[in-house]
Amino acid sequence: MLRSTILGLGSYVPDRVVTNDEIRFLNDQHVKCAEPQTETNDEWIKKRTGIEARRYVPNDGKIGSSDLGLYASQRALEDAGVTAKEIDCIIFATLSPDIHFPGNAVFLQSKLGIDGEDGCACFDIRQQCSGFIYGMQMADSFIKTGVYKRVLVVGGELHSHSLDYTTRGRDVMVLFGDGAGAVVMGPKETDSPTDGVLYTHCGADGSGAMDLHLKVFEIAKLPYVYYDAKNRDQNSIMYPQMDGKKVFLNAVRAMVASVGRALRETQLTWKDIDWFVPHQANLRINEAVVQYAEIPPEKALNTIQYYGNTTAATVPLTIDHWRKAGKVKKGDLVLSTVFGAGFTWGSAIFRV
Ligand code: ACO
Repeated sequence: MLRSTILGLGSYVPDRVVTNDEIRFLNDQHVKCAEPQTETNDEWIKKRTGIEARRYVPNDGKIGSSDLGLYASQRALEDAGVTAKEIDCIIFATLSPDIHFPGNAVFLQSKLGIDGEDGCACFDIRQQCSGFIYGMQMADSFIKTGVYKRVLVVGGELHSHSLDYTTRGRDVMVLFGDGAGAVVMGPKETDSPTDGVLYTHCGADGSGAMDLHLKVFEIAKLPYVYYDAKNRDQNSIMYPQMDGKKVFLNAVRAMVASVGRALRETQLTWKDIDWFVPHQANLRINEAVVQYAEIPPEKALNTIQYYGNTTAATVPLTIDHWRKAGKVKKGDLVLSTVFGAGFTWGSAIFRV
C-alpha cells in the first residue's frame, strides 16, 4: 500500500532568549527599559501557563517568518537527504506572513533557490495553531494520490512584532514566541499498518472565530485599515484579542475528543504509541488533556517552557527538541493533537 512518510525534520528558533523576568521591562521595540512596561511577573506566567522563556528575532527589521521557515526547511532537507530542487510542493502554515499577499510559500521557494519557470506548487494555509497538522493532512493526501512526491510542510511564526507590550495586552503577550519547524514528506510502499503517516483528521468550529483573532484590517470598511497610534480603542486592531478562558475550555474539550477519535479509528492504544505531542499553548491545557484522555504522562512531550507558543511551529519544534535531547528516536510513533484559533483542531499519527 502507498503511504506518505516523514523523510526529514528540522526546526529553528532565534538566539535571543526573553525570560519572564525580562519581558515586563520590554517596550514595543523589544528594548529593555529601566522601569516595568507591563504589570506581570514570573510567578504568574509560570503558574498559569508553564512558560519560563520564549525566543525573539532581533529587532533590526531584517527577519520575517519566511526566513524562520527557510532555516527550519534547510535543516529538514538536510535531515531528509533531499535537495531543494526535488521539492515539488511547499505548504507554509503561518498566521504571521511577511506581508498580506502573496503568501510565505512563494518567498520561501525563492529563498530556497527553486523559483523560476519550473517552480513547484506553493500553498499558504492559515489555521493558526492547527496549521501544521492541517498541512500534514494536505501533504499526505497529495502524496497518496500521486499529485506530488516531495512535499515541504512548514510552520513558521514571528509573533514578537505584533504583541501589545502594555498591561492591556499582557494576557496574550506573555504567551507567544518566534520560531519555525518543517518536515519533508514523501511516498513509501509498505505492508505494515503502522508505517509512515497512518492517520490524519482535522475539524473546525467557526462559531468560535472571534474568540481569538487579530484583525489588522477589515476589508468591508473604508478605509479598510484604520490605525491611530494614540487612540487606544482604535489601535487595539493591531493586536491579538482573546477570550482566554473560552479558548482554554474549548482547547481541552476538542483535544481530548480528537485524541479519542484517533485511537478509536486506528484501533491503537497507548501501548503502541511512543509519544504524545500536543500543541504548545499552555502547559495546563496539555496537563488537562493528558488527564482526561488518560494518556500516560511520561509519553507527553512539552516545550512551552522554553519557547512559549510558536503557533504553527510547535509540533515539529517539540519533536525536534526532544529528538536532539535523545528522547525521540528515528521510527518512533507519535500521536500529535492541536487546537487553535478558528476554532480549529486536528490529530495525526505518524512515524518520525
Ligand atoms: N500577568 C499577570 N496577571 C495577568 C496576566 C499576566 N500576563 N494576564 C492576565 N492577568 C490577570 C488578569 O487580568 C486577571 O486579573 P483580575 O483577577 O484582577 O481580573 C487574573 O490575571 C486572572 O486572569 P484569567 O484570565 O482568569 O487567568 P487564567 O487562569 O484564565 O489564565 C490565560 C489566562 C493564561 C490566558 C489562559 O486563559 C489561557 O492560557 N487560555 C488559552 C490561551 C491559548 O491557548 N491561546 C492560544 C490558542 S492557540 C492559537 O491558535 C493562537
